[in-house]
Amino acid sequence: MSTIIYAHRGASKHAPENTMPAFELGYKQGADGIETDVQLTKDGIPVLIHDETVNRTTNGTGSVKDFTYEELLTLDAGSWKSSSYKGTKIPTLDDLLAWNKEKNLKLNVELKNNIISYPDIEKIVIEKLKSYNMVENTVISSFNHKSIALLDSLNVKIDYALLTSKRTSGIISFSKEIHAKGIHIRYRLLSNRLVTNAKQNGLYVAVYTVNNPLSISKVLRLECHAMFTDVPELAAEIKQRKK
Ligand code: G3P
Ligand code: MG
Repeated sequence: MSTIIYAHRGASKHAPENTMPAFELGYKQGADGIETDVQLTKDGIPVLIHDETVNRTTNGTGSVKDFTYEELLTLDAGSWKSSSYKGTKIPTLDDLLAWNKEKNLKLNVELKNNIISYPDIEKIVIEKLKSYNMVENTVISSFNHKSIALLDSLNVKIDYALLTSKRTSGIISFSKEIHAKGIHIRYRLLSNRLVTNAKQNGLYVAVYTVNNPLSISKVLRLECHAMFTDVPELAAEIKQRKK
């Protein structure tokens, strides 16, 4: 089996996370896919940004949900990382999907609706994926397990997975119940036992965020389905070496 390498928020060690330059760099560095975080603007546009506020990754302040998309466009989402990225905008999900048309990378769209509940974010994202014919090449994940469970009732043939950062009892049986494909776990939860248990239950395991040779190697050794890394170049090199 071949572990999928997702560029986490793009190649976010060297480019501003969740921006087009970070996705482009992830592609150039040999990632198989892109992981990104989605929130909704005041006018319901799905935009790619990790935090609920723009404070950390732009030159503005305030909650994403309180900005219209046009207002968000006035912010600089690159300078905080390096002056060479000055003027980089917060991308929309559309921007990523349009860019990916030619490249056809796998996508992991993480719904950031565990702190703020964005009404209908699940449907909005799925409609976008459908319009770019990307339903089959995408997995949707969230720390909000109710939101992921809702996908089961939407009757769309799309892969989805529960995200967890802590040992959650019953996550495997719940995943099965809602017909999830896998579990996306924090690296410190990774063990041979968990991977075996998940596999025996027909679920894959994907691991975030692995940025050093030791953790990348462990994910490969345990034959996990996927990894999320800020340094896809390093992960691709290690994976190649171990072939
Ligand atoms: O989807 C994997 C990972 O991105 C989850 O955590 O906080 O980096 O979005 P976070
Ligand atoms: Mg994420």
